[in-house]
Amino acid sequence: MVNNILNKVGNTPVVSLPIIGKPNLNVFAKLEFYNPTGSVKDRAACYIISRLLNDGTINKDTTLIESSSGNFGVALSAYAKLNGLKFICVIDKTTLPVNEMLIRLQGAEVIRITKPDNNGGYLINRIKKVKEIVQKTENIYWINQYANPLNARAYYNSLGIEICLEAPRQKVDYLFMGISSGGTITGVSQRVKENYPNAKIIAVDVDGSIIFGGKAHKRFIPGIGSSIRPDILKHAKIDDVISVNEDETIDACRELLERHNLYAGGSSGSVYAGIKKYFRRNNVESQVNIMCVFADSGERYITTVYNDQWGDMVREYNLKRQYSEAIAV
Ligand SMILES: Cc1ncc(COP(=O)(O)O)c(C=O)c1O
Repeated sequence: MVNNILNKVGNTPVVSLPIIGKPNLNVFAKLEFYNPTGSVKDRAACYIISRLLNDGTINKDTTLIESSSGNFGVALSAYAKLNGLKFICVIDKTTLPVNEMLIRLQGAEVIRITKPDNNGGYLINRIKKVKEIVQKTENIYWINQYANPLNARAYYNSLGIEICLEAPRQKVDYLFMGISSGGTITGVSQRVKENYPNAKIIAVDVDGSIIFGGKAHKRFIPGIGSSIRPDILKHAKIDDVISVNEDETIDACRELLERHNLYAGGSSGSVYAGIKKYFRRNNVESQVNIMCVFADSGERYITTVYNDQWGDMVREYNLKRQYSEAIAV
């Protein structure tokens, strides 16, 4: 028994996902939506706050601040409240109402950015706002998931170990992970490479994200992709990148529900779509173990990824964008 559910982070289940027509691919997904506030981000929020309190970097009077459009904000607001700390969360226009509600209800102050930046997202303006507040506030700590080594450390010390231990027959040939701040893939890839040096780490990104270059454009699915290249990634051990588009993500989420009874979030669909796309391009002759991480559940995407009209709107927007790009060449 635990005295508070927030102390039950990690040890999430792993399920097998057989892929029709691909008998050599043994895919295993780590279901991170079994964490207390519903996502992989509980690991970072819980770890970072405890470490900072234990080493005296912050105290009970410190205000925490972070830019987050969703899951990290939800997780930080819960763990800040648990520890009696004030938390300011800088979100933006695209933050799902359910996430904003959860952040507010857990006592955080919410600042909402509505002006997009030049990369078509809100991240740069969110970070600008955070810096402004940090400058004029005493005893404030910016979590800064994009550069704080503790973010990667959290995953190195928990999810990374679990993946290494839980890989069937103690074998990891491939690891597929969605990427946004880069903290998860940085920590997990370091741990997996230490234990399985031959494992191939594949980052799953989305079209319109500029993490690995390419042209920025508006993205609709939160939690994956970024309009900056996070500093933390300098320490990641990534072998290859596969990018998927929003149509592929939506179809993959539907397939996960139909074939595997998994009601998974947008980035999980992207990861699943990424695995299928990668192995359409790269054939394997023998059995391989593919570990992957499903970061959150479908519940927070009921009005988006699982809503047909929303899917049609995204498809139409992307087609029009591709058309105007094509005629501009
Ligand atoms: C749903 C979802 N998937 C994937 C990620 C990627 O994790 P990271 O920010 O550590 O790269 C996030 C991060 O917020 C997320 O919310």
